[in-house]
Amino acid sequence: MKERLDKYLSSQTALSRKEAQKAIKEKRVFLNGTVIRAADTKVDTESDTVSLDGQPLTYQQYVYYMMDKPEGVVSATKDRAERTVLDLLPPDLRRDGLFPAGRLDKDTTGLLLITDDGDYAHRMLSPKKHVKKRYIATLDREPEDSIVSAFASGIILGDGTVCKSGHAEPLGGSRVALEISEGKYHQVKRMFAALGYHVEALRRVQIGGLTLDKGLNPGEVRVLTAEEAKKVFC
Ligand code: URA
Repeated sequence: MKERLDKYLSSQTALSRKEAQKAIKEKRVFLNGTVIRAADTKVDTESDTVSLDGQPLTYQQYVYYMMDKPEGVVSATKDRAERTVLDLLPPDLRRDGLFPAGRLDKDTTGLLLITDDGDYAHRMLSPKKHVKKRYIATLDREPEDSIVSAFASGIILGDGTVCKSGHAEPLGGSRVALEISEGKYHQVKRMFAALGYHVEALRRVQIGGLTLDKGLNPGEVRVLTAEEAKKVFC
């Protein structure tokens, strides 16, 4: 694939398009060992070597990151008032086009995927793919055993929306693990509300076959290999 040099740089590094153009003007960018002055120079992403400040870049068409989303940040690319999950990315993982694949509420924590691969996110979120998500909910009180069959037969939300069947597993005390394959707005909280419970804390721990890395601290991110990223469809 051929791409303009400034676009290539902003997609592969933390530089914005403008910063990339400035770096090119400042002679900090080399293409196959030769300094390049024109931002519109075409780069062959497969065969050319681009270096910035003496460091060769390894081209990656798409990246996939796993974050342990902390409380208090929004799952958006930009927000006028709030800190977003993208604001938490360390500089070396930033690049153009990243977005959270699916949303968690501001007060929900846990597994969030961040990518620049729109097709991947689309497939993951498509209702047709039935990708399961596992949450740990802490309720306002110990749940009745009857929630298990209520989730299995499909909860009807307060506004009449019918949810697909889910798998609830009481974990003792007020904690419940819940697996669902839909992603309606505030779905977990609304499902428990329909049964008369308030969700006091919610954490996502798994998407498809991909589990949250327990080694991550809240707000930390790590790169997923392509193999790991595919596990969401397993
Ligand atoms: N369901 C919710 O209610 N909130 C989330 O953040 C995710 C699922």
